[in-house]
Amino acid sequence: MEIKSYLNEQRQLVESSFDSYIPAAEGVFSDHLQAMRYSLFAGGKRVRPILCLAAARAVGNAIPDEDILPVACALECIHTYSLIHDDLPAMDDDELRRGKPTNHVIYGEAGAILAGDGLLTLAFDILCNTGYGKLDTEKRLRISHVIARAAGSLGMVGGQALDIANENTTFPFETLQAIHRSKTGALITASVLAGAIAAGADEAQLDGLTQYGDQTGLAFQIVDDLLNATSTTEQLGKAAGSDEEHGKATYPAYFGLEETRNKAKLAVEEAKKGLKSFGDDARPLRLLADYIYTRSH
Ligand code: IPE
Ligand code: IPE
Ligand code: MG
Ligand code: MG
Repeated sequence: MEIKSYLNEQRQLVESSFDSYIPAAEGVFSDHLQAMRYSLFAGGKRVRPILCLAAARAVGNAIPDEDILPVACALECIHTYSLIHDDLPAMDDDELRRGKPTNHVIYGEAGAILAGDGLLTLAFDILCNTGYGKLDTEKRLRISHVIARAAGSLGMVGGQALDIANENTTFPFETLQAIHRSKTGALITASVLAGAIAAGADEAQLDGLTQYGDQTGLAFQIVDDLLNATSTTEQLGKAAGSDEEHGKATYPAYFGLEETRNKAKLAVEEAKKGLKSFGDDARPLRLLADYIYTRSH
Protein backbone atom coordinates (compact mmCIF):
# COMPACT_ATOMS: atom_id res chain seq x y z
CA MET A 1 0.00 0.00 0.00
CA GLU A 2 1.30 3.36 -0.97
CA ILE A 3 0.81 6.03 1.69
CA LYS A 4 -0.03 8.76 -0.82
CA SER A 5 -2.89 6.88 -2.47
CA TYR A 6 -4.10 5.62 0.92
CA LEU A 7 -4.26 9.18 2.27
CA ASN A 8 -6.05 10.45 -0.84
CA GLU A 9 -8.60 7.69 -0.73
CA GLN A 10 -9.28 8.13 3.01
CA ARG A 11 -9.44 11.91 2.70
CA GLN A 12 -12.04 11.58 -0.04
CA LEU A 13 -14.03 9.14 2.07
CA VAL A 14 -14.04 11.58 5.00
CA GLU A 15 -14.84 14.62 2.88
CA SER A 16 -17.66 12.92 1.02
CA SER A 17 -19.35 12.26 4.35
CA PHE A 18 -19.18 15.85 5.68
CA ASP A 19 -22.38 17.02 4.05
CA SER A 20 -24.37 14.34 5.89
CA TYR A 21 -23.43 15.91 9.22
CA ILE A 22 -22.73 19.61 8.63
CA PRO A 23 -25.81 21.83 8.28
CA ALA A 24 -26.21 23.55 4.91
CA ALA A 25 -25.61 27.31 4.91
CA GLU A 26 -29.26 28.27 4.54
CA GLY A 27 -32.06 29.76 6.56
CA VAL A 28 -31.82 32.41 9.23
CA PHE A 29 -28.34 31.30 10.41
CA SER A 30 -26.87 31.02 6.91
CA ASP A 31 -24.05 33.57 7.44
CA HIS A 32 -22.88 31.85 10.63
CA LEU A 33 -23.13 28.38 9.06
CA GLN A 34 -21.20 29.62 6.03
CA ALA A 35 -18.40 30.83 8.34
CA MET A 36 -18.19 27.34 9.85
CA ARG A 37 -18.19 25.68 6.44
CA TYR A 38 -15.56 28.09 5.08
CA SER A 39 -12.85 26.72 7.38
CA LEU A 40 -14.07 23.13 7.42
CA PHE A 41 -14.04 22.93 3.62
CA ALA A 42 -10.84 24.96 3.20
CA GLY A 43 -8.82 21.76 2.82
CA GLY A 44 -6.59 20.28 5.48
CA LYS A 45 -4.92 16.91 5.62
CA ARG A 46 -7.73 15.28 7.68
CA VAL A 47 -5.12 13.45 9.76
CA ARG A 48 -7.34 13.02 12.84
CA PRO A 49 -10.32 11.46 11.01
CA ILE A 50 -7.94 9.23 9.04
CA LEU A 51 -6.24 8.09 12.26
CA CYS A 52 -9.67 7.35 13.72
CA LEU A 53 -10.63 5.18 10.72
CA ALA A 54 -7.23 3.45 10.68
CA ALA A 55 -7.41 2.65 14.41
CA ALA A 56 -10.87 1.13 13.94
CA ARG A 57 -9.42 -1.10 11.19
CA ALA A 58 -6.39 -2.02 13.32
CA VAL A 59 -8.61 -3.57 15.98
CA GLY A 60 -9.53 -6.30 13.51
CA ASN A 61 -13.31 -6.44 13.99
CA ALA A 62 -15.41 -5.83 10.92
CA ILE A 63 -17.16 -2.50 11.40
CA PRO A 64 -18.70 -0.51 8.54
CA ASP A 65 -17.18 2.88 7.68
CA GLU A 66 -20.64 4.44 8.13
CA ASP A 67 -20.44 3.74 11.87
CA ILE A 68 -17.03 5.45 12.23
CA LEU A 69 -17.47 8.39 9.85
CA PRO A 70 -19.67 10.48 12.18
CA VAL A 71 -16.96 10.16 14.87
CA ALA A 72 -14.24 11.00 12.34
CA CYS A 73 -16.19 14.04 11.17
CA ALA A 74 -16.79 15.23 14.76
CA LEU A 75 -13.02 15.11 15.36
CA GLU A 76 -12.36 17.27 12.29
CA CYS A 77 -14.98 19.79 13.52
CA ILE A 78 -13.14 20.11 16.83
CA HIS A 79 -9.75 20.36 15.13
CA THR A 80 -11.03 23.03 12.71
CA TYR A 81 -12.51 25.05 15.59
CA SER A 82 -9.13 24.88 17.35
CA LEU A 83 -7.42 26.29 14.25
CA ILE A 84 -9.93 29.14 13.87
CA HIS A 85 -9.41 30.19 17.48
CA ASP A 86 -5.63 29.56 17.32
CA ASP A 87 -5.38 32.09 14.47
CA LEU A 88 -7.34 34.88 16.21
CA PRO A 89 -5.52 38.18 16.85
CA ALA A 90 -5.59 37.49 20.60
CA MET A 91 -3.94 34.10 20.05
CA ASP A 92 -1.35 33.53 17.27
CA ASP A 93 -2.64 36.38 15.11
CA ASP A 94 -2.31 34.62 11.76
CA GLU A 95 -3.86 35.65 8.47
CA LEU A 96 -3.29 32.53 6.38
CA ARG A 97 -4.53 28.99 7.05
CA ARG A 98 -4.88 26.05 4.71
CA GLY A 99 -3.70 28.37 1.94
CA LYS A 100 -6.61 30.78 2.46
CA PRO A 101 -7.28 33.92 4.52
CA THR A 102 -8.04 32.93 8.12
CA ASN A 103 -11.62 32.85 9.32
CA HIS A 104 -11.49 36.17 11.18
CA VAL A 105 -10.02 37.92 8.11
CA ILE A 106 -13.18 36.98 6.19
CA TYR A 107 -15.89 36.94 8.88
CA GLY A 108 -14.46 39.30 11.53
CA GLU A 109 -13.39 38.35 15.04
CA ALA A 110 -16.88 37.85 16.44
CA GLY A 111 -17.85 35.76 13.42
CA ALA A 112 -14.73 33.60 13.79
CA ILE A 113 -15.18 33.09 17.54
CA LEU A 114 -18.76 32.00 16.92
CA ALA A 115 -17.81 29.77 13.96
CA GLY A 116 -15.39 28.01 16.32
CA ASP A 117 -18.03 27.74 19.05
CA GLY A 118 -20.46 26.35 16.48
CA LEU A 119 -18.03 23.68 15.24
CA LEU A 120 -17.09 22.57 18.75
CA THR A 121 -20.70 22.20 19.77
CA LEU A 122 -21.68 20.55 16.49
CA ALA A 123 -19.09 17.83 17.17
CA PHE A 124 -21.00 16.67 20.26
CA ASP A 125 -24.33 17.05 18.46
CA ILE A 126 -22.99 14.59 15.84
CA LEU A 127 -21.53 12.20 18.43
CA CYS A 128 -24.81 12.03 20.37
CA ASN A 129 -27.07 11.67 17.32
CA THR A 130 -28.29 8.08 17.34
CA GLY A 131 -29.54 8.58 13.76
CA TYR A 132 -25.87 8.57 12.61
CA GLY A 133 -24.32 5.11 12.42
CA LYS A 134 -25.15 2.13 14.59
CA LEU A 135 -22.87 2.49 17.60
CA ASP A 136 -24.54 1.48 20.86
CA THR A 137 -25.15 4.06 23.57
CA GLU A 138 -22.33 2.83 25.79
CA LYS A 139 -19.76 3.25 23.02
CA ARG A 140 -21.16 6.68 22.11
CA LEU A 141 -20.89 7.79 25.71
CA ARG A 142 -17.35 6.48 26.11
CA ILE A 143 -16.18 8.04 22.84
CA SER A 144 -17.79 11.39 23.70
CA HIS A 145 -16.09 11.37 27.09
CA VAL A 146 -12.65 10.53 25.64
CA ILE A 147 -13.00 13.33 23.06
CA ALA A 148 -14.40 15.92 25.50
CA ARG A 149 -11.60 15.22 27.97
CA ALA A 150 -8.94 15.53 25.25
CA ALA A 151 -10.40 18.73 23.78
CA GLY A 152 -10.91 20.51 27.09
CA SER A 153 -8.92 22.13 29.87
CA LEU A 154 -6.97 18.96 30.69
CA GLY A 155 -6.09 18.59 27.02
CA MET A 156 -6.11 20.91 24.03
CA VAL A 157 -7.59 24.02 25.63
CA GLY A 158 -5.24 23.70 28.60
CA GLY A 159 -2.33 23.26 26.20
CA GLN A 160 -3.29 26.37 24.27
CA ALA A 161 -3.40 28.32 27.54
CA LEU A 162 0.09 27.06 28.43
CA ASP A 163 1.35 27.86 24.91
CA ILE A 164 0.17 31.48 25.18
CA ALA A 165 1.40 31.88 28.76
CA ASN A 166 4.90 30.74 27.75
CA GLU A 167 5.48 33.10 24.83
CA ASN A 168 8.80 34.91 25.25
CA THR A 169 9.81 33.06 28.41
CA THR A 170 12.64 30.72 29.26
CA PHE A 171 10.66 27.55 29.70
CA PRO A 172 11.77 24.26 31.27
CA PHE A 173 11.60 21.06 29.18
CA GLU A 174 8.67 19.77 31.29
CA THR A 175 6.60 22.79 30.21
CA LEU A 176 7.53 22.35 26.54
CA GLN A 177 6.55 18.69 26.67
CA ALA A 178 3.29 19.48 28.47
CA ILE A 179 2.38 22.08 25.83
CA HIS A 180 2.98 19.69 22.94
CA ARG A 181 1.29 16.70 24.55
CA SER A 182 -1.79 18.70 25.47
CA LYS A 183 -2.34 21.27 22.71
CA THR A 184 -1.84 18.72 19.91
CA GLY A 185 -1.14 15.24 21.31
CA ALA A 186 -4.34 14.91 23.33
CA LEU A 187 -6.75 15.20 20.38
CA ILE A 188 -4.59 12.89 18.27
CA THR A 189 -4.62 10.21 20.97
CA ALA A 190 -8.37 10.68 21.36
CA SER A 191 -8.84 10.25 17.59
CA VAL A 192 -7.05 6.90 17.71
CA LEU A 193 -8.91 5.75 20.83
CA ALA A 194 -12.30 6.88 19.52
CA GLY A 195 -11.92 4.72 16.41
CA ALA A 196 -10.68 1.80 18.46
CA ILE A 197 -13.53 2.02 20.99
CA ALA A 198 -16.07 2.20 18.16
CA ALA A 199 -14.59 -1.01 16.76
CA GLY A 200 -14.78 -2.78 20.13
CA ALA A 201 -11.08 -2.78 21.11
CA ASP A 202 -10.16 -4.62 24.31
CA GLU A 203 -8.17 -2.97 27.13
CA ALA A 204 -4.80 -4.38 25.98
CA GLN A 205 -5.39 -3.01 22.48
CA LEU A 206 -6.39 0.36 23.94
CA ASP A 207 -3.16 0.47 25.97
CA GLY A 208 -1.03 -0.13 22.88
CA LEU A 209 -3.00 2.41 20.89
CA THR A 210 -2.66 4.98 23.69
CA GLN A 211 1.12 4.67 23.39
CA TYR A 212 0.81 4.96 19.61
CA GLY A 213 -1.43 8.04 19.86
CA ASP A 214 0.65 9.81 22.52
CA GLN A 215 3.88 9.37 20.59
CA THR A 216 2.50 10.21 17.13
CA GLY A 217 0.77 13.22 18.69
CA LEU A 218 4.05 14.44 20.16
CA ALA A 219 5.86 13.77 16.86
CA PHE A 220 3.13 15.64 14.99
CA GLN A 221 3.69 18.87 16.95
CA ILE A 222 7.50 18.53 16.89
CA VAL A 223 7.30 18.28 13.08
CA ASP A 224 4.90 21.26 13.02
CA ASP A 225 7.62 23.20 14.88
CA LEU A 226 10.29 21.99 12.47
CA LEU A 227 8.27 22.95 9.41
CA ASN A 228 7.50 26.37 10.89
CA ALA A 229 11.25 26.94 11.30
CA THR A 230 12.47 25.47 8.00
CA SER A 231 9.72 25.58 5.35
CA THR A 232 8.02 28.37 3.41
CA THR A 233 4.62 30.02 3.77
CA GLU A 234 3.79 28.88 0.25
CA GLN A 235 4.55 25.25 1.02
CA LEU A 236 2.71 25.25 4.38
CA GLY A 237 -0.34 27.32 3.44
CA LYS A 238 0.22 29.13 6.74
CA ALA A 239 2.84 31.57 8.00
CA ALA A 240 6.35 30.11 8.21
CA GLY A 241 8.76 31.56 10.76
CA SER A 242 5.96 32.75 13.03
CA ASP A 243 7.02 30.66 16.05
CA GLU A 244 10.32 32.49 16.39
CA GLU A 245 8.62 35.82 15.77
CA HIS A 246 6.19 35.17 18.64
CA GLY A 247 8.79 33.67 20.96
CA LYS A 248 6.89 30.35 21.09
CA ALA A 249 8.01 27.44 23.23
CA THR A 250 9.10 25.00 20.51
CA TYR A 251 11.45 22.03 20.17
CA PRO A 252 13.78 23.86 17.75
CA ALA A 253 14.00 26.81 20.19
CA TYR A 254 14.95 24.42 22.99
CA PHE A 255 17.05 21.77 21.21
CA GLY A 256 18.09 23.23 17.85
CA LEU A 257 17.09 21.69 14.51
CA GLU A 258 19.18 18.54 14.40
CA GLU A 259 18.30 17.31 17.88
CA THR A 260 14.66 18.19 17.22
CA ARG A 261 14.67 15.93 14.14
CA ASN A 262 16.07 13.10 16.24
CA LYS A 263 13.37 13.60 18.87
CA ALA A 264 10.62 13.44 16.25
CA LYS A 265 12.08 10.26 14.77
CA LEU A 266 12.40 8.70 18.21
CA ALA A 267 8.75 9.50 19.01
CA VAL A 268 7.67 7.79 15.78
CA GLU A 269 9.70 4.68 16.68
CA GLU A 270 8.14 4.64 20.16
CA ALA A 271 4.70 5.02 18.56
CA LYS A 272 5.22 1.94 16.41
CA LYS A 273 6.29 -0.07 19.47
CA GLY A 274 2.78 0.48 20.82
CA LEU A 275 1.54 -1.60 17.86
CA LYS A 276 3.80 -4.60 18.44
CA SER A 277 0.96 -6.96 19.35
CA PHE A 278 -1.07 -5.85 16.30
CA GLY A 279 -0.87 -7.67 12.98
CA ASP A 280 -1.24 -6.55 9.40
CA ASP A 281 -4.50 -4.72 10.13
CA ALA A 282 -2.37 -2.03 11.81
CA ARG A 283 -0.27 -1.43 8.70
CA PRO A 284 -2.05 1.86 7.87
CA LEU A 285 -1.30 3.12 11.40
CA ARG A 286 2.39 2.26 10.96
CA LEU A 287 2.49 4.07 7.62
CA LEU A 288 0.70 7.06 9.14
CA ALA A 289 3.34 7.28 11.88
CA ASP A 290 6.08 7.45 9.20
CA TYR A 291 4.07 9.98 7.20
CA ILE A 292 3.77 12.23 10.25
CA TYR A 293 7.57 12.38 10.40
CA THR A 294 8.19 12.80 6.66
CA ARG A 295 5.31 15.14 5.77
CA SER A 296 6.17 18.39 4.03
CA HIS A 297 3.17 20.47 5.17
C1 IPE B 1 -2.12 22.03 12.50
O1 IPE B 1 -2.74 20.80 12.31
C2 IPE B 1 -2.19 22.43 13.92
C3 IPE B 1 -1.59 21.49 14.86
C4 IPE B 1 -2.27 20.95 15.80
C5 IPE B 1 -0.17 21.18 14.77
P1 IPE B 1 -2.71 20.07 10.90
O2 IPE B 1 -1.29 20.07 10.39
O3 IPE B 1 -3.37 18.76 11.02
O4 IPE B 1 -3.56 21.06 10.00
P2 IPE B 1 -4.55 20.79 8.78
O5 IPE B 1 -5.80 20.22 9.35
O6 IPE B 1 -3.89 19.84 7.83
O7 IPE B 1 -4.78 22.14 8.18
C1 IPE C 1 -1.76 24.48 17.10
O1 IPE C 1 -0.53 24.83 17.49
C2 IPE C 1 -2.46 23.76 18.20
C3 IPE C 1 -3.91 23.91 18.09
C4 IPE C 1 -4.52 24.57 17.15
C5 IPE C 1 -4.68 23.28 19.10
P1 IPE C 1 0.26 25.87 16.56
O2 IPE C 1 -0.19 27.26 16.81
O3 IPE C 1 1.70 25.57 16.76
O4 IPE C 1 -0.17 25.39 15.11
P2 IPE C 1 -0.12 26.16 13.74
O5 IPE C 1 1.32 26.14 13.36
O6 IPE C 1 -0.70 27.51 13.94
O7 IPE C 1 -0.91 25.32 12.80
MG1 MG D 1 -0.82 28.24 18.54
MG1 MG E 1 -0.77 28.77 15.47
